[in-house]
Amino acid sequence: MEKIAVLTSGGDSQGMNSAIRAVVRTGLAHGYEMIGIKRGYKGLMENDFITLGSKDVSDILYRGGTFLQSARSEEFKTEAGQNKAINNLKKHGVDYLIVIGGDGSYRGAQSLAKRGIKTYGLPGTIDNDIPLTDYTIGFDTTLNVVQDAISNLRDTMSSHERVSVIEVMGRNCGDIALQGGIASGVDAVLIPEFDYDIKAIANQLSQGFERGKTHSIVMVAEGVATAKEVASFIEEHSNLDTRPTVLGHIQRGGTPSAFDRLFTSRMGHMVIELINDGVTGVALGMEKNEITYHTFDEIFKAQNIVNKKLYKVFQDLI
Ligand code: ADP
Ligand code: F6P
Repeated sequence: MEKIAVLTSGGDSQGMNSAIRAVVRTGLAHGYEMIGIKRGYKGLMENDFITLGSKDVSDILYRGGTFLQSARSEEFKTEAGQNKAINNLKKHGVDYLIVIGGDGSYRGAQSLAKRGIKTYGLPGTIDNDIPLTDYTIGFDTTLNVVQDAISNLRDTMSSHERVSVIEVMGRNCGDIALQGGIASGVDAVLIPEFDYDIKAIANQLSQGFERGKTHSIVMVAEGVATAKEVASFIEEHSNLDTRPTVLGHIQRGGTPSAFDRLFTSRMGHMVIELINDGVTGVALGMEKNEITYHTFDEIFKAQNIVNKKLYKVFQDLI
């Protein structure tokens, strides 16, 4: 019986559990033996392997986080670390490895693929920063967390006639800020992909209050500046009372949205079909509502560009 192993790596994201469940259940249905590797590449190097049956993935579809747990490992970036990992895969007779993680985890998967391991990637990160997929696992859930947080901020900001500056995650990618900003109707969005004029923003906010607005929300991507820096700048260049909020790891938690559950179920199913078909060294994603796949090399060659049209949508709606 051929063996498929699955691991989750890097920053966790809502829907990773749902992806593991889909991979395991589909793999079992197609006659594979399924193995889970705990704590990502760390567990792979430390030989932390467990057998997974159908019941082991019960009751996880709706849970955030990852029951296999996740980790980051500097050692895995070295040849010696990867040798340990490959030896463990061979020792357990693993034929295929599925890595659920972000771009760093994909680099690791690509290295293993280059060294002859039949490797597959599923885009597990809230950042939405992986090229050749419209969405990453957890991104949609995170947008929902962001919009709920902004709704809470509006209540108190209106009572006190204040400006709220909210800092969201995303590393060097502005998707959480931009798409969360559109969905929440914020007044300004600062993202790494576009230049901004903070003095002009401070002016625009002041004018809004002069017109009778009772609050304003400014969204800043962590790749641009901190909420504290932006809030201080706005206070210096306007007469507005401003408060910074860092949303932080709250963004990575919570039950996955229906979208993330469906998206991961479809990809988890398809990756097993690709194994059946003999396709290897690829990562899956969604483009125009279809589940698609590309080689790791193609993904690293492509650019992840924030949709310029979406930025225009934002600008025309404020
Ligand atoms: P994410 O996968 O969420 O982007 P990281 O960038 O932290 O998270 O990457 C997760 C792990 O992937 C790292 O801790 C490391 O073990 C592995 N990794 C990252 N970059 C590389 C690389 N260039 N080569 C091999 N492994 C890598
Ligand atoms: O990559 C996911 C992410 O949540 C980023 O948005 C953020 O910059 C980073 O991970 C935070 O990492 P950590 O969980 O190590 O604090």
